[in-house]
Amino acid sequence: MNSLAAPATTLAGPEQTAAELAAHVVGEAVWAPSVHNTQPWWFSVDSGGLSLYADPARRLAAADPDGREMLISCGAALFTARLTLRAAGRVPWAQILPDPAQPLLVAQLNWERGPGATGYERRLSAQVRLRRTHRGGFDPLPLDQKLLVTLQESASRYGAVLLVISDEGTRAVLAEAVQAAERTLELDSAHARELAAWTSPPGSSRADGVPATAYPARAERTFPYFPSRDFARGRDWGLPPLSTLPGRSAGVVCLLATSSDEPADWVNAGQALQRILLTNAAWGVATALHSQPFELGARHDLVGLWPGLHPQLLLRLGTTVQTAASVRRPPGSVLFTAGGEPVGLAAAGREAG
Ligand SMILES: Cc1cc2nc3c(=O)[nH]c(=O)nc-3n(C[C@H](O)[C@H](O)[C@H](O)COP(=O)(O)O)c2cc1C
Repeated sequence: MNSLAAPATTLAGPEQTAAELAAHVVGEAVWAPSVHNTQPWWFSVDSGGLSLYADPARRLAAADPDGREMLISCGAALFTARLTLRAAGRVPWAQILPDPAQPLLVAQLNWERGPGATGYERRLSAQVRLRRTHRGGFDPLPLDQKLLVTLQESASRYGAVLLVISDEGTRAVLAEAVQAAERTLELDSAHARELAAWTSPPGSSRADGVPATAYPARAERTFPYFPSRDFARGRDWGLPPLSTLPGRSAGVVCLLATSSDEPADWVNAGQALQRILLTNAAWGVATALHSQPFELGARHDLVGLWPGLHPQLLLRLGTTVQTAASVRRPPGSVLFTAGGEPVGLAAAGREAG
């Protein structure tokens, strides 16, 4: 299926059909994070492996005109698929954006039988369904330096860079950038309509978008103040507050960046992101994400702060109690045979705490 020298494909062992293994992999991959939980992906399976496609119908037209966030989300799903294959005793390899004639074909994924997963991979794999995006502040506790180094190594595996912003002045500049962007996004009708289309009321049975179980009803203030997106938009939606403190720590602020800014870099930034998020989760550390400033062209304004680097996403890390839950579309609705038939499977997407 490709011209790269690669080991022969063994899609599934005798105890598992190709469709069963693919269904298992996709059943995990759908738990990757995606902007507004758009889940902008679908997969096809054939005897040669799995193909991951971006779904442009789920791209955010106002917030993400060039599909950057869509491809970061697909990269996170790709990392999750590869990790799941490792946990299933396979050695995967991926070709990213292999066919210029098919720009929506994000990756082709093949694998062969190999040594079992490492303990580290198993710990990450165990977090795939448990990890949740955090929206709010953190306990005022420092994070282990070893974790931060591990996260930076995670980013560099995919050609990305994770900058830990410890300087108070730069933290304040980034907080201001998020505040200004959040204000602008709330007042912009196209962005506000788009956010409304991807949020659902309490009790909704929708399997995509941001449910009311995913954010606090009253936005938590942080020092410095990194406002969350206003998913509730003035309504009484969201989780009861966990903390009555007037303000909590913003946590460790990090910038995920790449040295070039092409679609393949966005996919790789997504792979790095998911490795970072799962590593944090395995260490008991929660992560908040902020892409507001990067949805208004301000991404390039920040380039001046870090010459030669293209900012992709802001992360805040820390310890806290998390009660958020999210939703996913069932894997059967995003996995097809090469002929376009849905691959039936039992492991439907369900609410995860
Ligand atoms: C590229 C990208 C950008 C995101 N931007 C934000 C953001 O600005 N604010 C936020 O609260 N969550 C953000 N998220 C997190 C998603 O909203 C979240 O992954 C999705 O709702 C699914 O929830 P989960 O991560 O808890 O499974 C982003 C995720 C991705 C992949």
